Amino acid sequence: MRLITREEMRRVYSMEEAIEAMKLAFRLFSEGKAIVPLRTKIDVSKSEGQALFMSAYVEETMSLGLKIVSVFPNNVKVGKPAVPATMVHMNPETGEVCAIMDGTYLTQVRTGAAAGAATDLLARKNASVGALIGAGGQSSAQIEGMLAARKLKEVRIYDADGERAQKTAETQDRKWEKAGVRILATKSAEEALRDADVITTVTTARDPVFPAEAVKRGAHINGVGSFKPDMQEIPPEIYLKANRVFVESREAVLSEAGDLIIPIKGGLFTEKIITGELGELVAGKVEGRKSDEEITLFKTVGIGVQDAVAAGEIYKRAVEQNVGTEFTF
Ligand SMILES: NC(=O)c1ccc[n+]([C@@H]2O[C@H](COP(=O)([O-])OP(=O)(O)OC[C@H]3O[C@@H](n4cnc5c(N)ncnc54)[C@H](O)[C@@H]3O)[C@@H](O)[C@H]2O)c1
Repeated sequence: MRLITREEMRRVYSMEEAIEAMKLAFRLFSEGKAIVPLRTKIDVSKSEGQALFMSAYVEETMSLGLKIVSVFPNNVKVGKPAVPATMVHMNPETGEVCAIMDGTYLTQVRTGAAAGAATDLLARKNASVGALIGAGGQSSAQIEGMLAARKLKEVRIYDADGERAQKTAETQDRKWEKAGVRILATKSAEEALRDADVITTVTTARDPVFPAEAVKRGAHINGVGSFKPDMQEIPPEIYLKANRVFVESREAVLSEAGDLIIPIKGGLFTEKIITGELGELVAGKVEGRKSDEEITLFKTVGIGVQDAVAAGEIYKRAVEQNVGTEFTF
C-alpha cells in the first residue's frame, strides 16, 4: 500500500491532466459506464459533525475508490481543519486498497479541473478576463483550472471577506506573475464581473452573489458552490438569459443544488432549462456554444466518479515515478 501526500500528488499530476481526466470521467458517467452509489452520511451528533462516504467504480479506467469527507465545524476551535478528507484508492482486480492519499487536495484539483473542463469546452476562445467570486479553500485550484483552459490576462477576485480576497489575490498574483497574468482583488462583485469572459462562483453563500445584469454577453459561468437545496449563488435570471446550461449530473444537481431547485420550485423555469450533461457535450451528443454572443453556464455539485478517476491516475503516475511511501500492515 502506498501513502501519497499532497505535495507528492501535486508533483505527479498537473491541472491539464486533471482537466482531460474530468472530461473522460464525465463522458463515462453520462454514458452510464460508472457505478456511483448515493453518498452515505453518518451524523455524529455528539460532536455536531457529519461523516460522508463517497464511493465510485469505473471499469474502463480501472478506477475504484472511496472518499471519506468529515464535516466537523467545531474542529476550527481546536485548530484543526473543519472538513478533513481522505481518499482510498483500490485495485479493481483484487479488491485490495493500494493507496491512501490527501482527499482535500484531491477535491481541490478535481473541482478546479471540472470547471476548467467546462471552461475549455464552453468559453469563448479569445476570453481574456476572468472573475472569481469566493477566495476560500477552493480558490487556488479554481484559478489554476481557469488559466489552464484559457490564456487570460487578468483574474479579479471578490469575496464577502475583503481581507481574504486581498490576501488571496496577492498570493495568486505572485504565483502567476511569470505567466503574465495579473490577479487583483475587487471591492464588489460587479467590479469583478465587468467585462469578464469567464466567471466562477465558489462560495458558501445562501443567496445569489452577483446581479444578473453584471454578466456580459458571451460570458461563460461556472457555478461551483450551492451544493444544498437551500443554497444559491447564481441569480436565477441568468439561467433564463443563458443560451446553454450544462451540469455534470442531472440527478445530482436537481436533488442537491438550490441554484436550480429554488427557481424550479418557484415556477421560474423547469428542469428543461438544462441543455445537457457535460459528458454528453464531450461525447458530441449535445451541441455547445454556437456563437461569441451566447452566455454559457456549467453548474456542478461534485460526484464520486471525479474522485475515483483522478485518484486512479495519480496512483498510476506515483507508481511510474516511484513517488510516495510504500507500507504493509
Ligand atoms: N462542486 C464541487 O464539486 C465542490 C467541491 C468542493 C467544494 N464545493 C463548494 O464550494 C464552496 C466553497 O468551498 P471552499 O472550500 O472554498 O469554502 P471556504 O469556506 O473556504 O470559502 C468560501 C468563501 O466564500 C465566501 N463567501 C460567502 N458568501 C459570499 C458572498 N455572498 N459573496 C462573496 N463571497 C462569499 C466566504 O467569505 C469564503 O471566503 C462550498 O460551498 C463548497 O461546499 C463544491
